[in-house]
Amino acid sequence: MSTLNRRIALAPMMDWTDRHYRYLLRLISKHMVLYTEMISSQALEFGDSDRLLAYDQKEHPLALQIGSRDVRQSVLAGQKAQSYGYDEINLNVGCPSDRVQQGGIGLCLMKEPLVVAEILQALKKETDLQVTLKTRIGVDEQDSYEDLKRFIEIAAKAEPDAIIIHARKGWLKGLSPKENRTVPPINYARVYQIKEDFPHLHIGINGDINDIDAIEAHLEKVDSVMLGRFAYYHYMQLNTLDQRFFKDTSAPICADTVLEQYKSYMQSQMEQGTRLWAMARHLMPLFQSCNGAKLWRSRIALCNKMDATLDHIDFAREAIEQ
Ligand SMILES: Cc1cc2nc3c(=O)[nH]c(=O)nc-3n(C[C@H](O)[C@H](O)[C@H](O)COP(=O)(O)O)c2cc1C
Repeated sequence: MSTLNRRIALAPMMDWTDRHYRYLLRLISKHMVLYTEMISSQALEFGDSDRLLAYDQKEHPLALQIGSRDVRQSVLAGQKAQSYGYDEINLNVGCPSDRVQQGGIGLCLMKEPLVVAEILQALKKETDLQVTLKTRIGVDEQDSYEDLKRFIEIAAKAEPDAIIIHARKGWLKGLSPKENRTVPPINYARVYQIKEDFPHLHIGINGDINDIDAIEAHLEKVDSVMLGRFAYYHYMQLNTLDQRFFKDTSAPICADTVLEQYKSYMQSQMEQGTRLWAMARHLMPLFQSCNGAKLWRSRIALCNKMDATLDHIDFAREAIEQ
């Protein structure tokens, strides 16, 4: 089993961290660990495996995130992930959406640490993957430090390769998933304390980490940092990560080179039947702080048309002033 250099990771984000966005981000950082969107173990048992699991080899190191409360199905998901060559499987214990709650998965599982431990243990035993957990600092009224410590203690019995903690609690009722990412206050100190109390565990931190200097500060306290919205809306700001955190000596990539390389990717994907829009939508933030960025975005939006081609991308590029 390989040990991942997991200092910085892209957070799993439904509808955002699909294979196309991950490919785009991989052009910008060769070293970040990339996470898929959450896929339920049920979908993985009954759905089209290729549609759910296919990816480009350049995406490694790559983690599949699953939503599950069923040991057998989790193992099946792990075995499929392994056969597709994923590096890691991650259990989601943080998502509060209604649909996820109906399945008793995601954040609900913070109230059932024994189930979490059992799933992690089975994945460790039955697969060769890195096995990790993504959770929050609390759920509903279960939100004291002692509650979190007890949860981590039980999960840690399965000896996961990493536990990534979103440094805010979640509410199962009363807040939408979006509000659950903004309303409960961030509490990094809780995550730092977990690292102090469980020094042997790999502890990752997540939540509102929105600039590169902040990454450096967190890495003094915990083992790794996971970036969500910042990595989606401001990905060109990550173009010095490899040099700064992974001792990479290559030159940082610029937006135009990203665009050229992503266009080649889009071309080959379109030849296999992928719609341009599925890929082009991730280009919106590419030229973010440049003159003409607004026009760029409105022209990229035109790629939504069924007959859109790469010429639409070139037309959009003309909006950016050098
Ligand atoms: C659009 C969107 C979709 C998300 N989907 C997932 C998901 O599938 N699994 C998960 O564990 N977290 C999901 N999250 C939460 C993120 O992984 C992350 O924990 C959260 O956004 C806080 O990190 P940030 O402040 O760096 O964005 C999602 C967040 C967003 C914005």
